[in-house]
Amino acid sequence: MIKKGIILAGGKGTRMSPLTKAVNKQLLPIHDKPLIFYPLSILMLAGIKDILIIVNQGQLSQYKKIIPDGKNFGIKINYIEQKNPNGLPEAFILGEKFIKNQNVCLILGDNFFYGQNLSKILRNCTKLKNGAKVLLHRVNNPERFGVAKVFGKKIRSIKEKPKKFISDLAITGLYFFDRKVCNYAKKLKPSKRGELEIVDLLNRYLKNKKLSAELIGRGGAWLDTGSIEDFYKTSAFVSAIENRQGFKIACLEEIAFNNKWIDKKQLIRAIKFYGNCSYSDYIKNLFK
Ligand code: TTP
Repeated sequence: MIKKGIILAGGKGTRMSPLTKAVNKQLLPIHDKPLIFYPLSILMLAGIKDILIIVNQGQLSQYKKIIPDGKNFGIKINYIEQKNPNGLPEAFILGEKFIKNQNVCLILGDNFFYGQNLSKILRNCTKLKNGAKVLLHRVNNPERFGVAKVFGKKIRSIKEKPKKFISDLAITGLYFFDRKVCNYAKKLKPSKRGELEIVDLLNRYLKNKKLSAELIGRGGAWLDTGSIEDFYKTSAFVSAIENRQGFKIACLEEIAFNNKWIDKKQLIRAIKFYGNCSYSDYIKNLFK
């Protein structure tokens, strides 16, 4: 069982500038809560309770205001700062001490997942023993993404932003790795754009025939919130679902309560912490 998870929540946020000049992207709102709640909810739905959040230098105090230490969700949150956004695999270099030679899950702080069966898919992925696993989702503009060509659940090849069509299955920002990942990450060389590349890390597993895939079907949604346009589209999506159903997406207290990680007392504490708002009203309804 994978018990550790990392959220990569730093980055330049260039595409969202000037919004991201003073505030990190993951602290900006997707509908009624900060973006960081969504990837954190995914790790919690996967049953992961030991979490490292990697943030930009200078942003730590901001993050701690909204997610102090995880006790309020019955989990453990650790933070570490990344000096420069040197690429996604740096998570495993900075996080080596946290990972402690165990299998680990990585989620990008700006990725949004939603859909029926998602919790089941996530829990299945945490059963990974050897190799690496990625989550794939069909897209109609594969040239904008890293894509994977598959045979069943095995990955045959991967390609970053392919000019010529090889597959329409995009590699999402949720990855599961075995304990070898830190050593592999340390051996990577920066690409032409000066970053360590996740594709190079995945290729390392692929070369050893140890890269597999899980598909999020058409009933599931994966949205990238990297551009302003996509950011607001995701916000509108959450708002539409929440208003129609009356259920909140990524209410962390609800997930923790359902997982029996926190009790009614902690819910009452959460209501005090958030104050008079619709998020608190929703938590109140959880124990009615
Ligand atoms: P990206 O989308 O690659 O980059 P970004 O968020 O900095 O935005 P832009 O391209 O507009 O400059 O990053 C994906 C996620 O990973 C995002 O949440 C930021 C995070 N990230 C880090 O925390 N550290 C890094 O070194 C990189 C490359 C990304």
